[in-house]
Amino acid sequence: MTSVHADVGEVLIDQDTLRTRVEELGAEISVDYEGRDLLLVGVLKGAIFFISDLMRELTVPCEIDFMAISSYGAGTDSSGVVRILKDLDRDIAGRHVLIVADIIDSGLTLSWLRRNLESRQPASLEVCTLLRKPDAIMVDVPVRYVGFDIPNEFVVGYGLDYAERYRDLPFIGTLHPAVYS
Ligand code: IMP
Ligand code: MG
Repeated sequence: MTSVHADVGEVLIDQDTLRTRVEELGAEISVDYEGRDLLLVGVLKGAIFFISDLMRELTVPCEIDFMAISSYGAGTDSSGVVRILKDLDRDIAGRHVLIVADIIDSGLTLSWLRRNLESRQPASLEVCTLLRKPDAIMVDVPVRYVGFDIPNEFVVGYGLDYAERYRDLPFIGTLHPAVYS
């Protein structure tokens, strides 16, 4: 078999597995938020495909908004420095907010974002992340929904990038070490 992509080392989560899990999460969230007015807050840019697929699985009415925060440069290590590049369009006071994130690595970004949104007094605030690296966690972040726990390796695809590339890959995979050097 030829390689799926020359720069990809290994496919960790294929397209079918992603789709099935997103369907499951959508069903679970729909039950949990029954009768409540849900606001999805997507964390740009890594969560773009996840949030758009997830939103279409929900059977409860929901709105969507986005935040762009920067915690990394072009590299693969967390600096812990968080900066708002784009804030929410609307006030979230009194809203049931679900943060939709691509990945929890050190947890620093989500921990900061959680505190930031909490201070705006939403009615409720939960986190849904597609991926989590349990071995990389530095700060504990309460997370209600997790798509997949993965090994402590740098991954790309389905929205996740390395230096802004590979977001368009339809699966989650690792990169050949040669790509980093
Ligand atoms: P944390 O603050 O260390 O949890 O990092 C969160 C952010 O770092 C994510 O939203 C991603 O943008 C980026 N990130 C962390 N790990 C990876 C990875 O394996 N691949 C791509 N981006 C990652
Ligand atoms: Mg990135």
